[in-house]
Amino acid sequence: MLLAGCSGSGGGGEAAATIRIGEFASLTGKEATFGTSSHEGTVLAIEELNAAGGLLGKQLELVYEDNRSTPGESLTIAKKLINNDKVVAILGEVASGRSLEVAPFAQQSRIPQISPSSTNPDVTKIGDYIFRVCFIDPFQGKLLSNFAQGTLKAKKIAIFSDVAAPYSVGLAKYFREAWVAGGGEVVSEVKYTGGDKDFKAQLTVIKNAKPDAIMVPGYYTDAGLIVAQARQLGISVPLFGGDGWEAPELIQIAGAENLVGTYYSTHFSPTSTDPLAQKFVTAYKARYNGKVPDAMAALGYDSVLVLADAIKRAGTTDGQKLRDAIAATKDFPGATGLTTLDANRDASKPAVIITVKDGKFEYVETITP
Ligand code: PHE
Repeated sequence: MLLAGCSGSGGGGEAAATIRIGEFASLTGKEATFGTSSHEGTVLAIEELNAAGGLLGKQLELVYEDNRSTPGESLTIAKKLINNDKVVAILGEVASGRSLEVAPFAQQSRIPQISPSSTNPDVTKIGDYIFRVCFIDPFQGKLLSNFAQGTLKAKKIAIFSDVAAPYSVGLAKYFREAWVAGGGEVVSEVKYTGGDKDFKAQLTVIKNAKPDAIMVPGYYTDAGLIVAQARQLGISVPLFGGDGWEAPELIQIAGAENLVGTYYSTHFSPTSTDPLAQKFVTAYKARYNGKVPDAMAALGYDSVLVLADAIKRAGTTDGQKLRDAIAATKDFPGATGLTTLDANRDASKPAVIITVKDGKFEYVETITP
């Protein structure tokens, strides 16, 4: 699929009429809201840049494809984007597992990959062409541990994680490390596989362990069902998770009343008073019929801006020079605050805690690294 500009094949590189940027996203399937939000933020940024004259005297052309939230699709898409469409950089993905699928190929092809919102530390460890514009899970695990201890006043925690998602496995691990180091107790640790529908057996094990709160480091489709089934089993303690919970669908899946006493951490709140955040929220609402942007939309938007800034500074889209320019990103202002890429090509940014009240997401607090 092509957005803006012509769609002639065999273009790309310095000689092409447009600068082609590739994107792979979960536009349908299990985590459809991840790809959809991120894609909408990406498109908005590209349109704004093009309206302002493009980059290096050329318009930007987004070439994107849907991986349907399934494993195995993303690498096929990346091969097409890099080999056939000759994109100068590749944006994606939200879910760490799917970013990890593409990263070795982007690295090998020497085409920079920027993940907007994959938080598993392993993603950028694949190589020096792989970047992200969000915080990583050792930080997210620690802040959730502090939150459980400080705000929830929990002492005994149960952890219920998804064995099929590197994100979930990683976040469970980093949370556990921080929690135990802080003197907390893990009374139960059980697992599911993303896509499961019945979580009652594991939830019964958790119930019998009498935790003060339950940590569910998974994605919203599963987390929503887990919350609903926990309440059906009479589990009334708080449940909480990380950014994987973020989706409007969480409320439909879990049921508003079941979400009372649940919390998650994420990257962005549309109620932020930061002027650049507000400018983004206004532009996004105007572009998408009043829809309020979420964290994935904001990070998708910022992933483009960081790339564009590097193309400008590099004065070229040549892989090596563009890589070096992205790596040198420092204090770049975007919708999610300032992006500085560290030696591991990761960003360090504040997180926000969100809860659900009366069927609406509500900002609780901001936590700085
Ligand atoms: N951080 C999650 C992952 O790495 C993806 C995600 C990002 C989900 C932002 C929601 C919001 O898999």
